[in-house]
Amino acid sequence: MAKQFTRPKGTRDIYYEEALIRRRVIDRVRDVFLSFGFSDLDTPAFELLETLQAKSGPEVEEQIYVFDDKGGRRMGLRFEFTASLGRVVASQDDIVRPFKRYQIGKVWRYESPQSNRYREFYQADVDIVGPYTMDCEAEIMTVVASALAEFGLDDYVFLLWNRKLLKAQLAVAGIEDEALQGAVMRGLDKLDKIGGEAVRKYVVESGVPEALYERFMALVPQEEGNEAILESLERTVGEHPQGREGIDELREILRLAAGGGLAEHIQLTPFLVRGLDYYTGAIFEVRSPALDNISFGGGGRYDTMVRLFGGQDAGAVGFAFGVERLVAVLTEKGLVSGPRCEALVMLAPRNKALVAQTFGLARELRAAGVPVFQHLGAQKLAKQLAYADRMGFPYVVVVGEQEVESDVFPLKDLRTGEQIEVPRAELAARILA
Ligand code: HAM
Repeated sequence: MAKQFTRPKGTRDIYYEEALIRRRVIDRVRDVFLSFGFSDLDTPAFELLETLQAKSGPEVEEQIYVFDDKGGRRMGLRFEFTASLGRVVASQDDIVRPFKRYQIGKVWRYESPQSNRYREFYQADVDIVGPYTMDCEAEIMTVVASALAEFGLDDYVFLLWNRKLLKAQLAVAGIEDEALQGAVMRGLDKLDKIGGEAVRKYVVESGVPEALYERFMALVPQEEGNEAILESLERTVGEHPQGREGIDELREILRLAAGGGLAEHIQLTPFLVRGLDYYTGAIFEVRSPALDNISFGGGGRYDTMVRLFGGQDAGAVGFAFGVERLVAVLTEKGLVSGPRCEALVMLAPRNKALVAQTFGLARELRAAGVPVFQHLGAQKLAKQLAYADRMGFPYVVVVGEQEVESDVFPLKDLRTGEQIEVPRAELAARILA
């Protein structure tokens, strides 16, 4: 038997409905991004490894696909767009701030694949570089909410927190060492997956004294409800400079986002950490019960990145949808569906002699705005019609001698089985109706 070739683990081949739905979702998300005035940016799929490593942290660094090019340079496939954005803003001085850009494309991460976790997937990002003010967080959350509203998804929540609060809690608990702080954050990031006991074990084994970890945990609000959580923070870290800033920033984001009608979707979440090291302020994720509450997007503020790439200081905040997960949520909720292809009608030439005429009719219909699938391959009519059924085209038009002569064509609706005779000049309008 001939050898079968398989795809790399964690990748997918998608086609027909699934591919069409993903493209339509991307198109609609892009339209929403454009409607907020985000501009296009394209960057390479691979970067010098040092660019990708600059500020992502050990966890993601392990996930970078690394290779040496033929000139012996260490390269990596992009695992996100944010580092490339930092590099661009730092190195191009004709970029005017605020720089609002979006970017949609594939990224690669060497992760252990499982349901909804791939090694190759799409992200759709929006970021604002320049200001340090919380209207940027509110804008990012609003554009994300608008994209979700575009699909009719209402059943979602933004988990919102602030890295400054974590820093303040760690400092007040006496965990000052950066490596130990990192261990606590990495531990908390796994909380959903492994549970509180395993997190404690991980953190203590990483060198954090148990008593300090207990003290830290006692500072994490246990209350429910945004206002109760903020009050708890006032008591525990309100006097600490970073705690103060963190609380004030959260209040400001909530106030501004409420102006955009987002209040009921935002839930302060004291255990939210996010895997990436570069965040400096607000962090957020968006989840829906439709996908077992795994995040289908996440982002935050990262004010030190542009400086790190050698540019002038700049505030920065942004968000990335995981497109496959967004599609999974929308599919689960029945909010997206699609045919196998966009054509509304299949033209079936009755015999070889009619193929040229069929090209003519196809051209006319397309010019009138109808996506047309012309059957090719000179097959018998019965075979062509069976094909149309399998593909699920809404309409089929048989092109025969008589039809061409009379300029009246049989328009068959394959969904109902009904057939009507339509003059050539009215065909497009009938199909599009
Ligand atoms: P992230 O949380 O690493 O953030 O990824 C954003 C989203 O990408 C996740 O919420 C998830 O939906 C999706 N995602 C991540 N890994 C996978 C995977 N293995 N398979 C499928 N989907 C996945 C970032 O990447 C930041 N760069 C976001 C950002 C933009 N922050 C500021 N600006």
